[in-house]
Amino acid sequence: MNFQWYPGHMTKARRMMEENIKLIDLLIEMLDARIPMASRNPDIDTLGKNKSRLVILNKADLADPEVNQQWIRYFQEQGAVTVEVNSKSGDGISKIKAAVEEACKAKLERDRARGIINRPVRAMVAGIPNVGKSTMINAIAGRPSAKTGNKPGVTKGKQWIRLQKNLELLDTPGILWPKMEDQQLGLHIALIGSMNDELFASDDLAFELIKELQQKYPLVLEQRFDAVKDLQDPIEILQAIAVSRGCLKKGAEPDLVKAGSILIEEFRSGKLGRLSLERP
Ligand code: G4P
Repeated sequence: MNFQWYPGHMTKARRMMEENIKLIDLLIEMLDARIPMASRNPDIDTLGKNKSRLVILNKADLADPEVNQQWIRYFQEQGAVTVEVNSKSGDGISKIKAAVEEACKAKLERDRARGIINRPVRAMVAGIPNVGKSTMINAIAGRPSAKTGNKPGVTKGKQWIRLQKNLELLDTPGILWPKMEDQQLGLHIALIGSMNDELFASDDLAFELIKELQQKYPLVLEQRFDAVKDLQDPIEILQAIAVSRGCLKKGAEPDLVKAGSILIEEFRSGKLGRLSLERP
């Protein structure tokens, strides 16, 4: 499978982010906790140069809790204040304010030394499509304020959400596209559903998922599907899943495309368990 992918509106979204970044002090980098490497855009280091930085591992509820801790340590060792969050339920959202202050400590001290007091810190959330930027902004604001969904270029004037006296958040997130040059990372983006699903046949994607799970969580498939016990071949595994879920074509032939969609959906929604595809 080939994961090269370059959506047309990427340039426009990036330009918008470059414009907005001039307005902020703090860049909140949002990553998917299941794939922190693949969901990290290397351009962010250039874009966020001279800005304070906070890393948020979102969708922590879908990722392996132990691996979440490893990633938090990893990013903290690199000097980034890091928190794990479930923006959908609001779990961890309350930790963000304190983390923002910690991430901006140096900037606030610099301001104070120059005699600038009470100028609010201005922050922007940035990340790849679907990582949960709008959900998080809404959770922080306690109301729907950001436009949910992937619509780059929809800003009409700048809206700032006041989080506390000294902190404002731009309600339009910065959208970055993942780098798909590395096939493995591209595959991870596709598996969590942040790439257009129409680009792949779901059975092909499911074969790749089965191979990843066999390496990283060898028991997970048989815990969910009795029928795959003792099977090793990804095709046979998907066939067994198809039969067990009643995905059959005419002549009782297993429908691998349908079974592939089911397997991928169950992975994405956490029904297979809390699984991380990447470890530090
Ligand atoms: P974006 O702005 O970065 O593009 O992402 P957005 O907030 O639109 O979120 C994309 C999807 O991810 C949404 O699901 C959202 O509910 C879900 N999501 C966001 N944060 C979390 C999280 O921490 N945990 C979990 N489990 N899901 C999260 P959707 O499929 O578009 O809608 P729905 O299923 O919530 O109705």
